[in-house]
Amino acid sequence: AKTHYHGFIIQATPVKRLCKTHNTITVNGMYPGPTLEVNNGDTLVVKVVNRARYNVTIHWHGVRQLRTGWADGPEFVTQCPIRPGHSYTYRFTIQGQEGTLWWHAHSSWLRATVYGALIIRPRPGESYPFPKPKHETPLLLGEWWDANPIDVVRQATRTGAAPNVSNAYTINGQPGDLYNCSKKDTIVVTVKTGQTNLLRVINSALNQQLFFKIANHKLTVVGADASYVKPFTTSVLMLGPGQTTDVLITANQPPTKYYIAARAYASAQGAPFDNTTTTAILEYETAPCLAKCTSTKPVMPSLPAFNDTATATAFTKSLRSPRKVEVPKEIDENIFITVGLGLNNCPRGARRRNCQGPNGTRFTASMNNVSFVLPSNFSLLQAHQQHIPGIFTTDFPANPPRKFDYTGNVSRSLWQPARGTKVYRLKYGARVQIVLQGTSIFTAENHPIHLHGYDFYIVAEGFGNFNPKRDTAKFNLVNPPQRNTASVPVGGWTVIRFVADNPGIWLMHCHLDVHITWGLAMAFLVENGVGELQTLEPPPADLPLC
Ligand code: C2O
Repeated sequence: AKTHYHGFIIQATPVKRLCKTHNTITVNGMYPGPTLEVNNGDTLVVKVVNRARYNVTIHWHGVRQLRTGWADGPEFVTQCPIRPGHSYTYRFTIQGQEGTLWWHAHSSWLRATVYGALIIRPRPGESYPFPKPKHETPLLLGEWWDANPIDVVRQATRTGAAPNVSNAYTINGQPGDLYNCSKKDTIVVTVKTGQTNLLRVINSALNQQLFFKIANHKLTVVGADASYVKPFTTSVLMLGPGQTTDVLITANQPPTKYYIAARAYASAQGAPFDNTTTTAILEYETAPCLAKCTSTKPVMPSLPAFNDTATATAFTKSLRSPRKVEVPKEIDENIFITVGLGLNNCPRGARRRNCQGPNGTRFTASMNNVSFVLPSNFSLLQAHQQHIPGIFTTDFPANPPRKFDYTGNVSRSLWQPARGTKVYRLKYGARVQIVLQGTSIFTAENHPIHLHGYDFYIVAEGFGNFNPKRDTAKFNLVNPPQRNTASVPVGGWTVIRFVADNPGIWLMHCHLDVHITWGLAMAFLVENGVGELQTLEPPPADLPLC
């Protein structure tokens, strides 16, 4: 196995998009940032130097970080932020994961522009469980704001308003043909007739689930979140922020240009969203009229409607592990967590009309009615490891404070969550089941829930209120898909299972950043097991302190 050394310089860089130049936070001047390519079993050593004027951390989204929680990255959870002028070196080994992951800033909304792909190929000498593709292309779907994303979220939290939606979606940082001043920079993926290519599609958007389609071409799904899946063919993908999907595409259509397109899947009723479409171009090398030739209009796919939940759900339900897997059959911890929005009083000093909830309230979000608050003077992991009291409590509830009709009309008394820094304690090796139940407080919405430090099996999902008697019978304990981010359907629920075999403190949150800002997060504290191999490593010497 190899060790890969990289340097990430976080810096402000002029980036021109949508006709204007913006000073944008980037890694090494690149937007999106560098693609990291490794093999399963390799070690990554990434020195991050902060030359920007904001605090920053980098999260390696989906990397299991077995015993190396100090390298996970969420600010104030596993480390304090890297302050301007400081640096931190992340060291970790890829253990048993293959496929596509990514990395992103895990500080405020910096990940809007600070992100990149992480490609994990099989160990040298081993091969993919599908025919070797001729070419591989990462496609990072993103969102672009004309304003500085940190200002967008600051303005929102100060005034009590919802943050502005983005000005464009992007593919590999480019809005594409359909936006102003963007045409000439549209990403072009060239293919040769008869060849099969692997596309590594990553949803790195901040706040938007996306449908993805390529005109006239079938997509064969072979992986999701760096786990292989039983191959199946579809014309459309749905990815929540944080999720990745690997697809094979065969160039078997008349040689011309086709649009690769992504557009919002916006499940919440009435919530504003960016309804534009980003495009890249799939171009046959033998097309009679090549890139420079503007007279050939690429063929446009017809994308599902923004609220097409049936298509979104049909896609997630098609995912299976390629073969029988080891799902925990018995459960030691049966946890039920509500995920959803809430409403709080308008912040002091803000104008009631800016607070966009009903009757001058502002939006908030919670899990089991706890709206998560990050500490500011220690990271949770440091506080845990050094037994520093008063930073967090271990009373995150295993159930909501009371049962209610989660997806029906929710009584007003439940609209206002309590704020807290609560974690849920798990014994090393515990077999855990979590029912993630969406609520319809204020509005029902689809939530992409991401668990740090783990892959989990999605054993079932459905609409309405989870009913253990009725729904347990339908669990797939044979070949459920393995992921790190599960999409909890709008007005519905998802059940996940995993074994708590990675000691440390692991954030679980909605990957819509606006929902993290409002508190839709919690953390698990997984205790050390017995012996060195079940124990969190000691913190690195350069770990940033607060
Ligand atoms: Cu990709 Cu906590 O995030």
